[in-house]
Amino acid sequence: MDTRRKMIKKGAGIVVDCLMALLLLLQMLHVFTGNTVHEWLGIAFFLCLAVHLILKRHWLAGMLKARGRKGGFAVKLFEGATLALLLAAIALMVSSMDVSRLLFPKVMLFGSADLHRYLATAVLTLSVLHGGLALLRRSRKKKRMLLLLIASVALSAALGLALVPYMDRHYKRVEVGYEQAVSGEKLAWTGKKPLTVYFTRVGNTDFAPDVDAVSGASLLLADGRLMGSGELLADMVQDAVGCDTRAIVLTGEKYPSSYGDTVAVAQRELRRDSRPAIESVDVSEYDEIILIYPLWWGTVPMPVATFLESGDFTGKTIYLIASQGSSGFGASTEAIRALCPGATVREGISVYCDDIPKARDEIGRYLQSILP
Ligand SMILES: Cc1cc2nc3c(=O)[nH]c(=O)nc-3n(C[C@H](O)[C@H](O)[C@H](O)COP(=O)(O)O)c2cc1C
Repeated sequence: MDTRRKMIKKGAGIVVDCLMALLLLLQMLHVFTGNTVHEWLGIAFFLCLAVHLILKRHWLAGMLKARGRKGGFAVKLFEGATLALLLAAIALMVSSMDVSRLLFPKVMLFGSADLHRYLATAVLTLSVLHGGLALLRRSRKKKRMLLLLIASVALSAALGLALVPYMDRHYKRVEVGYEQAVSGEKLAWTGKKPLTVYFTRVGNTDFAPDVDAVSGASLLLADGRLMGSGELLADMVQDAVGCDTRAIVLTGEKYPSSYGDTVAVAQRELRRDSRPAIESVDVSEYDEIILIYPLWWGTVPMPVATFLESGDFTGKTIYLIASQGSSGFGASTEAIRALCPGATVREGISVYCDDIPKARDEIGRYLQSILP
């Protein structure tokens, strides 16, 4: 290979390595960037990794062929770290698809967000070790470089391990002035009023005593009271239309306090097509139902499926209001249609979770559009 091509290859390698380091660090800020950005950055990271592997393919093939027979301790350590990094990166890629809600909603293995985070910590730590050892080989001040490397590896491992238990916490406090959030223009709903039925985590979760809107992702603190998005949306509908409202409430085991664990339980329920037991909700007196639910794994939570199968919806119209973290209606509309085939199911609005406290006007406009 001529010198020019070698230089270009080397330059491309450095750019890709720096990009990967940057992307990995940005990925660790998931609580701030949100899910959509996190998933796309994940794709960018694995594309960079593929380019990195292509650029280093000859070295990699040589290393795998020699299988540690060549070189001293430093070489073996570098090769060992590289191999471990490669395996951790593959495991991270699989776990990314497993917990993805936007790009790979159909992949379901363990559903453990914590496993994904520990793997990310492993990849970060091994990347620092891999990059640091590569620099160490070329460095003239070996002793100083070695100390820096040990400190960086220890820091990335400690940071990752210490942060994992806190990663599903929202570091922003979502405080809502209840009256202001819920009150708005009143609508004259002539004729028989609809029934609003909602499902939300609050009321269906065994929260740890210290959970508040900071620690419980997707929860709101409305005038100091813990509230689910679905309940706030239902109160907005109630304020606009003055209709009856019912909550879907579990009678059996509630969801775990941790957001990550709830995500895993919900995935298991979806995979098994479970029907968790709920308090009965009588819909027989109503012709129209406004159904408010959060998107769970791209579809309705299984307690909502229980509700839809437990009543007779023949001839009724169901209007959907979904709250979500990026999925729109996902596959929920089709799922609801399949669960109550006798009903007319109409997509209403799907509100992004962060926009819920300010959604009163949007809800009002939507209800206006379906006024009898
Ligand atoms: C178990 C679980 C699964 C979720 N799955 C999705 C999803 O697939 N797509 C999405 O956009 N948001 C998803 N979310 C986010 C919720 O839909 C969103 O935070 C919603 O506003 C929560 O409403 P709630 O406070 O009424 O429970 C999920 C949340 C939980 C707890």
